[in-house]
Amino acid sequence: MKSEAFEGTGHGKLILTGEHSVVYGYPAIALGISAKTTVRLEPISGISRINVSERDERFCTVVETLCPTGFEVSIRSELPLGRGMGSSAAVAVGLARALAKARAIEASAEALFDTAMRAEQIFHSNPSGLDAQVSLQGGVLRFVRGQPPKIEALRSPNWDLIVMDSGCAGDTSVMVDGVAAQRPRIDPLLEQIGQLTERAQRHLHDPTKLGALLNENHKLLCDIGVSNKQLNQMTTTALEAGALGAKLSGAGGGGVVIALTTNADPVLQRIRETHPSAFVCSIWSKEKEPCKSRQ
Ligand code: PMV
Repeated sequence: MKSEAFEGTGHGKLILTGEHSVVYGYPAIALGISAKTTVRLEPISGISRINVSERDERFCTVVETLCPTGFEVSIRSELPLGRGMGSSAAVAVGLARALAKARAIEASAEALFDTAMRAEQIFHSNPSGLDAQVSLQGGVLRFVRGQPPKIEALRSPNWDLIVMDSGCAGDTSVMVDGVAAQRPRIDPLLEQIGQLTERAQRHLHDPTKLGALLNENHKLLCDIGVSNKQLNQMTTTALEAGALGAKLSGAGGGGVVIALTTNADPVLQRIRETHPSAFVCSIWSKEKEPCKSRQ
């Protein structure tokens, strides 16, 4: 007879403003999205094994560290890898939740965050914790790294985000290390991104001003060297299609561009002429499941 399996889910995220500078203690604004990852733990005897189609060394280390024995681990994910949509944090949170269930622990949000961060530290050497926090609770959040992190839930937006996938994966560790290697020369740029996030929070419900801030944020991300020709071209396409602002979202080097609009249907239609897979993101929040469904 097969023993009971335990499942946990973690949601993806998009960063509105503040990626990279959040690593250095500046605020970032991010939102949870409905796309998610489910981690399944099936009890077995002996050393844990991983049941995935492609072997990922970092994930093997996560399993060896967090649950070295006792489980067959499998993953079902709706999140593409390396696209800035928080796929690794979603795995980390899914695993933390599944382990709590398997060990019959009523884990607090802090305990789940701590477990997820142990996994995130293996996936990326110096994670801010933003992805894991948004994956856990969703909604629209202001996040400041710290011990403990400062988190503020923000009001739901009066605009939509269109997501355009470059189809290319970026490696978060490589991008974060690349930014670190340019310090202290780029510190003023990181500070500017932090200040821009403060303004973005003040103008969160003014789509025209917020759109302009997204454009400014993208330019600063170009200046710290995490954008590329393809991502820049995608932001231009979004603006020409009528978006109020557009930027890369996540670590960069690949991944997605987000485009802000209050008029999603015609803008999406125009963007789809060149990027047929573009979609309007569905914001997910643990408080109100599901918050919105437009995907
Ligand atoms: O691309 P992602 O989903 O791994 O986002 C990383 C966000 C960074 O600010 C670049 C790193 C971090 O740990 O916050």
